[in-house]
Amino acid sequence: MVKAVVLGAAGGIGQPLSLLLKTNPLISELSLFDIVPVVFGVAVDLSHIATPAKVEGFTKDNDGLGKALKGADIIVIPAGVPRKPGMTRDDLFKINAGIVRDLAVAIATTAPKAFVLVISNPVNSTVPIVAEIFKQHEVFDPKKLFGVTTLDVVRASTFVAEKIGDLSVSTAVRVPVIGGHSGVTIIPLLSQSSHSLPANITQDDIAALTNRIQFGGDEVVKAKDGTGSATLSMAYAGAEFAEKIIRAIKGEVGLVTPSFVHLTSDKSGAEVVKEELGTNELEFFSCKVQLGATGVEKILPIGEVSSFEEGLIKAAIPELKGNIEKGTAFVNAPK
Ligand code: NAD
Ligand code: LMR
Repeated sequence: MVKAVVLGAAGGIGQPLSLLLKTNPLISELSLFDIVPVVFGVAVDLSHIATPAKVEGFTKDNDGLGKALKGADIIVIPAGVPRKPGMTRDDLFKINAGIVRDLAVAIATTAPKAFVLVISNPVNSTVPIVAEIFKQHEVFDPKKLFGVTTLDVVRASTFVAEKIGDLSVSTAVRVPVIGGHSGVTIIPLLSQSSHSLPANITQDDIAALTNRIQFGGDEVVKAKDGTGSATLSMAYAGAEFAEKIIRAIKGEVGLVTPSFVHLTSDKSGAEVVKEELGTNELEFFSCKVQLGATGVEKILPIGEVSSFEEGLIKAAIPELKGNIEKGTAFVNAPK
């Protein structure tokens, strides 16, 4: 029996993500929360799909958030505003930081043992916000808090398959993407791709492909022309990541995926990563993570990287550090 909850379920990501979770036979209960009442309609609509999950919608009225969260095993958070052209993810901080903080307080008091998957941007700052709120409520388990960076991994697989000239291999292509989830903090390790790039690929091609993965979000924001950012590919990525977590909860071993995690979630693994990064200054980093029934089981080493990727890592660290500190300070600043 697995209860999944989506916070922000009526939104551009929330609706297709809830659809994909409803089709997951491992989920027995699916609670959908949003501040807009259309969430009730979304829940009724999904409830007609012939899969095991019992679906219910909630808004703020009558302690809807508490009811939605009660007994949750896994909580996915896509609540918050998306970007418009010309904005950075950090520009969303002003609105989304408060939204995520308030949702984290509700989780800390109602479902402190749940796995929490944060999609709301800027992920590099919203995940630290959740961690700080959980620390304040003395319920922080670093093994169970994840920033969802799966869309970067999905994009990397797709774009590499395009380069290879065969989209049919895209689901098999594995490219670790580490670091964080914004611009230069997104570090695709193309040198570790499971599928070799074409032999005639140049360093300029590698740089262009890297840039496309780092700024894939902007490609969608531009194409949607002021109406939002990635929703459908994000729902796909979010559902894929949630499924991995659920399979791990249910005892499957050996599941490995990148995710933005707190570096105390596996202290010995993190020591190796810090050594590889050449810094002790980052509290969070998107690492290759081995999942287990209690969450992060192992943080795996970054491994061998090219000199180009070494440069990407160096360039990412200062921005990542600033983003993390901004989230932490938002919660801890004197009132
Ligand atoms: P959207 O505006 O379509 O939907 C957001 C939903 O959140 C709305 O239904 C809104 O009512 C709801 N909401 C707002 N405040 C809330 C609250 N306090 N509690 C519950 N629900 C609340 O936006 P979207 O396109 O779905 O994007 C949502 C977020 O996801 C954005 O911050 C976006 O930048 C981010 N995002 C992250 C990734 C990633 O890779 N991590 C990818 C795409 C988008
Ligand atoms: C993405 O990578 O598509 C998301 O983070 C949304 C955005 O703002 O680009």
